[in-house]
Amino acid sequence: MRNIEIIIGSQMGSAEYVAEQLAEQLDANEFSTHLHEQPDLSACQHPLWLVVTSTYGAGDYPDNLLPFIEQLSDHEDLSHIQFAVVGIGDSSYDTFNLAASNCAQLLTNKGAQQLLPVLKIDVQDEALPEDAAIAWLPALKQQLDQAC
Ligand SMILES: Cc1cc2nc3c(=O)[nH]c(=O)nc-3n(C[C@H](O)[C@H](O)[C@H](O)COP(=O)(O)O)c2cc1C
Repeated sequence: MRNIEIIIGSQMGSAEYVAEQLAEQLDANEFSTHLHEQPDLSACQHPLWLVVTSTYGAGDYPDNLLPFIEQLSDHEDLSHIQFAVVGIGDSSYDTFNLAASNCAQLLTNKGAQQLLPVLKIDVQDEALPEDAAIAWLPALKQQLDQAC
């Protein structure tokens, strides 16, 4: 059983719902997920992370993710972490999914290994955000199988 920390950035619940759907699928496939609605670095004990976040303002992080991002920024070395990021955003903004991209960049800058390019889900698309995320899961699982 492989443990995954699912770190949620969500203001109105869309990203949280997507994270919960991903957790359900992963839990049914030999993973054990740990959802973090108010993420705190000290509570993320396992080295596999899945960040699911929306974007607000002019490309800002959702409020609940900000303390975690500050903790990451203060952290020297995250080279033991492997991660993937799912962004939920709106392509009518110039700053489409910028929080997701910035989070991936921050983790990479701290030495963490990115398993896959950021999945940028667009709420303007016809597909439901959770369906787009679930369709991407096999690619993540393939990377996780190689990573573990
Ligand atoms: C005030 C406001 C600002 C937003 N700014 C951005 C943005 O800069 N980039 C982006 O991709 N989406 C932006 N969005 C779209 C949200 O990220 C999108 O609606 C998302 O589904 C919200 O997820 P949540 O319910 O988990 O917070 C914005 C939405 C609102 C209401």
